[in-house]
Amino acid sequence: MNRFDREAFKLGAQPLIPRNQIDQRVVELAGQIGHEYRGLEVVAVAILKGSVFFATDLIQLIEIPVVLEFIRAKSYAGMSSTGAVQLTFGPERPVTGRHVILVEDVLDTGRTSAAVLDHLLSERPESVAICTLLDKPSQRTFEIHADYVGFTIGDEFVVGYGLDYEERFRNLRDIYALEAVDDRA
Ligand code: IMP
Ligand code: MG
Repeated sequence: MNRFDREAFKLGAQPLIPRNQIDQRVVELAGQIGHEYRGLEVVAVAILKGSVFFATDLIQLIEIPVVLEFIRAKSYAGMSSTGAVQLTFGPERPVTGRHVILVEDVLDTGRTSAAVLDHLLSERPESVAICTLLDKPSQRTFEIHADYVGFTIGDEFVVGYGLDYEERFRNLRDIYALEAVDDRA
């Protein structure tokens, strides 16, 4: 029995999204972005920490010039949104006049992306698009639309490939749903 088995949630027995499907979808998204921004340079703004795995895999496959920036935004404690979004750093250089692609791990209520978007727009970029690995449209309370979506999922809480539950599980290669442990068992 590992330590997670004694807690309230455990990983699903099978991945919700196996790594080979993630890799395949990342190739497709990179191809689409490279095509749509042909002749331009883009600034990929990855939101720390969750989107780092996705963002670095994605930009390696985009065949146009890409500048990588990071932004730190926190809105979550445990599995429910706490309301406030803190932007604690980045991007290093203003995105004024640049073509920006905001790279998210998961678009849930949309609160984080809305806050980051407001910040980026205040720097007057030439354009801004949102690219999210996962989209949970059923959870949306902020009016935010992703231009590029890896996978649309339900309202389950997922971990792996950068996504965490209280900082754990980011290092899993596949994406898993967390399931409630039935303590009668
Ligand atoms: P939003 O601000 O409600 O859209 O939430 C976005 C942020 O919440 C993401 O960048 C994640 O850090 C976190 N989050 C939302 N859903 C999940 C999930 O299923 N697993 C892990 N983190 C999540
Ligand atoms: Mg998180």
